[in-house]
Amino acid sequence: MRSIRFRIFAIIAVLLVMMFLLLNTYPVILSRDAVFQEKRSAMSSQAYALTHSLSGLETLNAAGIAEVLTFLDLSDYERIAVVDREGEPLYDSGKTALDTADILRALEGRTVFRSRFSEAAFLSTMVMPVSDQGGLIGAVLLQERDTERARGIWTVQRHLRTLSLSIGAAALLLEALFINLITSRFNGLAKSIRTVAGGDYHYRHTVRGHDEISELGEEFNQLTERLEHTETERRRFVADASHELKTPLASIRLLSDSIVQNETMDAATVREFVADIGGEAQRLQRTTEKLLTLSRLDDEVQFVPEPVDLKQTALDALALLRPLAQEEGVRLRSELTEGCVVMGSRDDMDHILFNLIENAVKYNVPGGCVTVKTGAEDEQVLLEVSDTGIGIPEADRPYIFERFYRVDKARSREAGGSGLGLSIVHDAVLAHGGSITVGPNKPQGTVFQLRFPRPTSEETGI
Ligand SMILES: Nc1ncnc2c1ncn2[C@@H]1O[C@H](COP(=O)(O)OP(=O)(O)O)[C@@H](O)[C@H]1O
Ligand SMILES: [Mg+2]
Repeated sequence: MRSIRFRIFAIIAVLLVMMFLLLNTYPVILSRDAVFQEKRSAMSSQAYALTHSLSGLETLNAAGIAEVLTFLDLSDYERIAVVDREGEPLYDSGKTALDTADILRALEGRTVFRSRFSEAAFLSTMVMPVSDQGGLIGAVLLQERDTERARGIWTVQRHLRTLSLSIGAAALLLEALFINLITSRFNGLAKSIRTVAGGDYHYRHTVRGHDEISELGEEFNQLTERLEHTETERRRFVADASHELKTPLASIRLLSDSIVQNETMDAATVREFVADIGGEAQRLQRTTEKLLTLSRLDDEVQFVPEPVDLKQTALDALALLRPLAQEEGVRLRSELTEGCVVMGSRDDMDHILFNLIENAVKYNVPGGCVTVKTGAEDEQVLLEVSDTGIGIPEADRPYIFERFYRVDKARSREAGGSGLGLSIVHDAVLAHGGSITVGPNKPQGTVFQLRFPRPTSEETGI
């Protein structure tokens, strides 16, 4: 966190420094070059005027030069000098020795211009050869010191420096504040994450504003909500499961205790009690088997999907449940069509059909009827299990797929139920990408309708 803050700060600081450097060099260089150009053209035209006048003299000497100079207005120049062909000064308004290098070059026929910018002034020098019809006769030197222009440029530069320094400082300050604000919001989010990671699933992050960080906070809150929900479910499940296992275990203890404590119990009663113990053990076995099925579905163990024909699966389940149906006086009917194939686990499809038909038989009335139908649409395979039984009250319908939920506990228990059958059906249907709905049957009873995605012939290989 700290390092990101530092990195952003460093990047912007470097950009600001670059801008500062650019702002403090580039304009000065530009205006200096403009002044150089200006000086060159002004000085060369004046030097030209001077050389022209000098070449008109009969002889190049001090008196002639002085006279020419009175005609030309060259008072702005700091130094004016004229040398003869050998470089000997004929006229010089300065006191120091002349720089011979430039003069020698001018005596070779070349014009030399040199301008230097230092803090105090522009120092410009122009040396130009003087010739008449007979050829080169000498050279002139003009030297100028311009403090005014120099001062102007320095003032601009000074202003630019103060301006860019203060803007830069303000930008850095704002940047630091902004980064602090952002990092403090991230820190707040990290604190919320730690709180929730510590197990406080009630906790919600306080979201402010509508930017990316707020979005992150909202996402986090949604995640926490899901976590809280899962956690509540898990607790409830453990509590329900313990309760469910406790009841048969308590009966087993009671029965065995009474056998042990009652020494005079006759053999027939003992056998009856032991049979009851066996019955309770069977119930425990069924419940644990169903719990295992559920946990397998929860784990989403990847089954290798195979084509499962619902017609065959339904016929198998109906055959298994025929004895129970006869016992209950319930008629089993089926309207099964060919080609209702689903890609999935054969085991899961067996569970689905068995549980639905078993319920339809168990929660039925004598003389009632159970109908199993299959059908296929373009994209879906349909399965319907309907009965003319006791029905499910509307208020209970939303909950019947929950684990251990039973409308009539006593009836379910009597029929050997555990309240897990429909949870298994529900989870298995979802694991196959299907959907399940429950509704009332007319004039009485219940209808379960299931839809599965219909595989292409490529997928089933049929
Ligand atoms: N076809 C049905 N008709 C009426 N009630 C049903 C039907 N199927 C399920 N139920 C109700 O839903 C409850 C949950 O079903 P299920 O999960 O299979 O548990 P159980 O082990 O009790 O059969 C049952 O206890 C019963 O009250
Ligand atoms: Mg059941």
